[in-house]
Amino acid sequence: MRTRSGQDLQQVRRHLIGTYAFGIPGEEALDCLARHAPIVEVGAGLGYWARCLRERGVDVVAYDAMSDQWQAWFRPTVLERTAGGLVARGDPLRFEPVLWTEVLEGGPERLAAHAERTLLLCWPDLWSGFDEESLRAYEGERVVCVGELGERGTGSDGFRRLLGRAWRPIDDAPVPRWPGCDDHLVVYARSASRGTSRTTSRASLSSRRPLKLGARSSPPFVHSENSNSATSLGST
Ligand SMILES: C[S@@+](CC[C@H](N)C(=O)[O-])C[C@H]1O[C@@H](n2cnc3c(N)ncnc32)[C@H](O)[C@@H]1O
Repeated sequence: MRTRSGQDLQQVRRHLIGTYAFGIPGEEALDCLARHAPIVEVGAGLGYWARCLRERGVDVVAYDAMSDQWQAWFRPTVLERTAGGLVARGDPLRFEPVLWTEVLEGGPERLAAHAERTLLLCWPDLWSGFDEESLRAYEGERVVCVGELGERGTGSDGFRRLLGRAWRPIDDAPVPRWPGCDDHLVVYARSASRGTSRTTSRASLSSRRPLKLGARSSPPFVHSENSNSATSLGST
């Protein structure tokens, strides 16, 4: 049975994921991504990782399909203290997700134009399969995955199978974790080069459209073991 403080923590987590991201970007994780830049991110959510990377000068192109279902999930929340404990409720004043930076509309079908970039997948969901599709569509040489590893880890079964079969880990970095989570950042290289051409599809570049959602102007908060400053967490 969950304790009251455990339930409170889940609600805080729900609120912060809905405001920022599923994965928590720490300094070491961002440094590692910077080493493997430029980056193309698919399933970027609210663009929090992309924003943190851009703030440190990393070249990132971020995509998300943001279906109605995900828009509802990323609807801003407020934390309320009730008799039963903390509850993350839909913000009565804001209904649509608020982006941290420019996120372009699109998914795996955009990757043909980005073979020269490292593909970033942060906490792909377990069921849609866009992660496996991305891996199949991507013609570049490096993929970075943020999430839980192993058979019951982040992403779809097909994605994890393909990753294990055709890619090998070459770099990693610790990622800050919520209690009970076991997040890692792992960089993979293709096990065998496919000898792909690195041409850029002009057609898909010219159809780039930003997601039309709310935008946020406050600076990002990056978790750091040495930092006790969380001042930008509440400011939007
Ligand atoms: C679990 S969320 C992770 C979001 C973000 N990476 C994070 O860490 O907060 C999965 C994301 O994948 C996106 N997604 C699902 N299917 C997609 C597709 N076919 N193309 C692009 N994005 C997709 C969803 O819109 C959602 O933002």
